[in-house]
Amino acid sequence: MQKTILVTGANGQLGKSLQQIAPDYDGQYRFLFTDVDTLDITDIAALRRIVTTEKVDILINAAAYTAVDKAESDIERAYLLNETAVANLATVAKENNAFFIHLSTDYVFDGKSSVPYRIGDPTGPTSVYGKSKLAGETAIVQSGCRGAVVRTAWLYSPYGNNFVKTMLRLADTKDSISVVSDQTGCPTLALDLARFLMAVIAHDGTANQLKYYHFTNKGRITWFDFASEIIRQAGKSCPVRPIPTSSYPTPATRPAFSVLDLNESEAIFAIPDWKESLTKVLPEIIYNYEHNIL
Ligand SMILES: NC(=O)c1ccc[n+]([C@@H]2O[C@H](COP(=O)([O-])OP(=O)(O)OC[C@H]3O[C@@H](n4cnc5c(N)ncnc54)[C@H](OP(=O)(O)O)[C@@H]3O)[C@@H](O)[C@H]2O)c1
Repeated sequence: MQKTILVTGANGQLGKSLQQIAPDYDGQYRFLFTDVDTLDITDIAALRRIVTTEKVDILINAAAYTAVDKAESDIERAYLLNETAVANLATVAKENNAFFIHLSTDYVFDGKSSVPYRIGDPTGPTSVYGKSKLAGETAIVQSGCRGAVVRTAWLYSPYGNNFVKTMLRLADTKDSISVVSDQTGCPTLALDLARFLMAVIAHDGTANQLKYYHFTNKGRITWFDFASEIIRQAGKSCPVRPIPTSSYPTPATRPAFSVLDLNESEAIFAIPDWKESLTKVLPEIIYNYEHNIL
């Protein structure tokens, strides 16, 4: 029987990626895509109404407060979206026995490790964003709902504004680009993440437990490496220069190292290498960048 998947925050990078792959699951799943104008995740009554009337089997929360630097001075709103609203979603999922998939972040870690972070490793967020996302994870655990918490990192896609589009723009407008070379992690193509979430549903969707996953593309690079490869593959001539984080101060402190251990995810999904995914999607990102499509 066809199952119903409700997606919140569907106009964001992950939400639009889920919309892009949804036709591939026609007949198997019915998708309901919502964003803040149709379903505000802070409104628990509206959430209850839609989950019960539409008989939602699976709830994917792609909505969040994702402005990492702005969160440092917009603390209340960051916690409202990343903790309180997530608690609402988990409560409603639990009430309806729905499978709840929620996205969290590598920024729940302190960045002091030199080996990839495993799922059970101690957390220690250094930013308001990271702390609010960790509070959301805790709220899910406390709700007792079934589902999956998927920590991801460095998301990019053809949609919205992201690092790849910023590098393309800077390459067209500056003589050179300076990018930090002492923050190590791995980018994640949102389309790969969307397909991974469908694999989680296939693998765990009927299970009566909450599982954690780490999901990024495969590899270990710095933002400087990522920028250099974007500019190279885009065929642009703008030089990219490495700089230390200390030369690029931001309101939020980011972890110096946030590579995630992917063992659990690799067991259920063939994860592409970061460079391979960039090559696959860059023409579409360039097209959207050149045509101002968000
Ligand atoms: N982006 C990254 O690099 C990154 C890294 C690690 C983890 N993650 C996590 O991955 C998930 C997806 O990230 P993303 O980059 O796809 O996010 P995104 O592009 O910022 O999208 C978030 C969406 O949520 C919507 N939204 C905001 N408030 C809402 C509300 N009250 N009710 C319903 N929808 C609301 C936003 O609408 P508006 O645009 O109108 O506000 C937007 O469409 C998030 O949980 C994020 O924390 C992201």
